[in-house]
Amino acid sequence: MKVDTLRVAVINGPNLNLLGVREPAIYGNESLDQIETRLAGIAAEMNVTLSFFQSNGEGELVTEVQRLRGAADGAIINAGAYAHSSIALRDAFDAVSVPFVEVHLSNVHAREPERHRLVLAGHAVGVICGLGSYGYEAALRGLASHLRAAKP
Ligand code: DQA
Repeated sequence: MKVDTLRVAVINGPNLNLLGVREPAIYGNESLDQIETRLAGIAAEMNVTLSFFQSNGEGELVTEVQRLRGAADGAIINAGAYAHSSIALRDAFDAVSVPFVEVHLSNVHAREPERHRLVLAGHAVGVICGLGSYGYEAALRGLASHLRAAKP
């Protein structure tokens, strides 16, 4: 059976450019580059084309989400600390109607109370947290299955 190619945008927010160096006991030893390379290999086997974007700025992340209209079938986002506060990012996803899965490397619900509130999560297809970098792979597989099931 022929499976259509899916376009998935992988978006990472503030401080995730420092993965591998930043608090490895919480976030692991892999760099974002290593995670993205591994994910691209998995995506290729699934007939999914990935694009990657990372920014420390909320406005730049909003602009990137706006760009997804017509350019991506779905998105995976680790919005970092903006996941706890950014109504603007949530509005951007609502504006472009692009289904997304939210990822956090750490289990934010087992951490400080201010990390328990996830403002994008209620609008996501699903949320994965606490599985480390495997969360991106789980998100990719879950999102692809969701998008393919939804296709006419
Ligand atoms: C994070 C969790 C957030 O609370 C934190 O601000 C991050 C990383 C995670 O991947 O576990 O920057 O999104």
